[in-house]
Amino acid sequence: MALKSDKTDVLSFAWEGKGMHELVREIQELKRERQAVILAHNYQQDAVQDIADLVGDSLELSRYAAEADAEVIVLAGVRFMAETASILAPDKTVLLPDAFAGCPLAESVDVQELRREKEKYPDAAVVCYVNSPAEVKAESDICCTSSNAVKVVQSLPHHRILFVPDRNLASYVSRFTDKEIIPWPGLCITHYRATLEELEEARAAHPQAKVLVHPECRPEVCEAADFVGSTGAILKYARESDAQEFIIGTEMGIIHRLQQENPGKKFYLLSPGLICPNMKLTTLSKIAQCLKEMQPVIKVPEDIRQRAYRALKRMLEVV
Ligand code: 13P
Repeated sequence: MALKSDKTDVLSFAWEGKGMHELVREIQELKRERQAVILAHNYQQDAVQDIADLVGDSLELSRYAAEADAEVIVLAGVRFMAETASILAPDKTVLLPDAFAGCPLAESVDVQELRREKEKYPDAAVVCYVNSPAEVKAESDICCTSSNAVKVVQSLPHHRILFVPDRNLASYVSRFTDKEIIPWPGLCITHYRATLEELEEARAAHPQAKVLVHPECRPEVCEAADFVGSTGAILKYARESDAQEFIIGTEMGIIHRLQQENPGKKFYLLSPGLICPNMKLTTLSKIAQCLKEMQPVIKVPEDIRQRAYRALKRMLEVV
């Protein structure tokens, strides 16, 4: 069966005459056979999170990929995450269950444009968000994720920082530093859909709730929130907080883990727009299929990989 990128594939267990349990068993067997691990981002569908060896934020997935004792890594996420795993673990086969699972934010920065921008600011360090193509990482001084962006920027001796590609994360970082942050104009369309009006409406409906948002949200949403952090930091905040209700301003897939980890607490999504179609492309049937066919493989060309590795390694040394 050819790889499908349409969202209707979520129903494909039925088409293949397989039930959910059979599919899960098949994946477990294939995993053993291939010596594979499944890494899933916090935004993945519930069933995909449930079958994964690790569910985490971008930084946790990167660290695990670098150290995983496995021949094969199935990256249940989007392309830049699979590329990051391939850069950090070049000897492992990295599979992305749906080859069309991209990230419009990552694709908003192009290496030629970045080179032109670097010429304009020769004294600036380039900090690139992990949501970026491998070629852009290769052209950057250091990477960051949403959980370590402030620390990464503060670790640099440079006063000027060219920050690519997320302008909202750049704006969030600039709240914590005196450095000059030059933002790239990219943004995450999913987080952009959450508005201040929706936040205020949600607060009015749930006055006891804490508002936790991702730094990819609009600046006015971040400013109005009680807490701004990566998906991993939002999970930690909810676990450790005495509050019983939370309004969540990031992709809806995270609600699954929030509810699993905090069965007595209540979680409300800040906006119905907080759904990333790319993250939802991965299904159990595609995971089984990619393990059977051992494709699509994501492999970063060695010359690019070595340069991108430097930027990622510098990040991993900072935090
Ligand atoms: P985290 O690093 O918080 O997991 O975010 C990744 C991401 O892609 C957000 O859109």
